[in-house]
Amino acid sequence: MSDSVCLAVNGLEKRFGGVVALTDYDIEIRSGELVGLIGPNGAGKTTVFNLLSGVLKPTRGTIFFKGQDITRFRPDQNAVLGIARTFQNIRLFNALSVKDNIKAALHPHMGCGLWKTVLNVPGYRRSERRIEDKSREFLDLLGLLEVENEPAENLPYGLQRRVEIGRALAVNPSLLLLDEPAAGLNPNETEDLIQTIRTLHQRYNLTIFLVEHDMRVIMTICSRIQVLDMGHILAEGDPVSIRKNSRVIAAYLGQPESSAHA
Ligand SMILES: Nc1ncnc2c1ncn2[C@@H]1O[C@H](COP(=O)(O)OP(=O)(O)OP(=O)(O)O)[C@@H](O)[C@H]1O
Ligand SMILES: [Mg+2]
Repeated sequence: MSDSVCLAVNGLEKRFGGVVALTDYDIEIRSGELVGLIGPNGAGKTTVFNLLSGVLKPTRGTIFFKGQDITRFRPDQNAVLGIARTFQNIRLFNALSVKDNIKAALHPHMGCGLWKTVLNVPGYRRSERRIEDKSREFLDLLGLLEVENEPAENLPYGLQRRVEIGRALAVNPSLLLLDEPAAGLNPNETEDLIQTIRTLHQRYNLTIFLVEHDMRVIMTICSRIQVLDMGHILAEGDPVSIRKNSRVIAAYLGQPESSAHA
């Protein structure tokens, strides 16, 4: 594991009109870390991910990725640099098969652009082979080989979430942002997901930033946790200290189970 800084965020703020969704937001994540971001509904977690991935532009503050200022970069620029994300609301090509959903995400990143494909230029078959191999690797890792030919829309929710992760991996990221990957999963599926995240963290040497309401996921896999509440950082620390933090308990962990999972 390297000690180099992967992500450095300073003084980030996002306003939507009069609503301050996020303010004074800082975080530093070293390469290879697996960090959790928690907080009640509306705390600003997805806003952080939207800012880091370039979907939203901050009102103020800076974002550095591996030493490069990416504060105003677009999502496609960030993807090229190696920042990938999944969405809280699943975004798949519903009518396409599971395999094609992943292959479609691989194409722009494996030197097989549309024109090469259409014109069947030399190298096309070779990159097509690589795309096939790579998509099999992800399908296998994510336990999706059995359903690879199913249209994505036919899959149960838990498997659709895995396809989302496969599409994020396709950009060959070094930083992976996962927004509530366990949402809607049953306990067995959640247990499988924990193993999967651990495996891909190690196998691809990934830095992972994880938003999750499921405390079991957060507490078992994150080495460090940051807590947001109403757009502010409330606490940051290892799982044991976060679990014991009275402000966190009051703001978040103290919520009844049903609302914590809403
Ligand atoms: N595009 C937007 N336009 C206006 N307000 C927004 C927008 N996106 C988020 N907000 C507001 O910003 C605040 C933070 O929202 P955000 O989605 O980041 O919360 P969250 O922590 O991800 O919540 P949840 O746990 O429910 O997913 C909320 O008050 C929300 O209503
Ligand atoms: Mg959210």
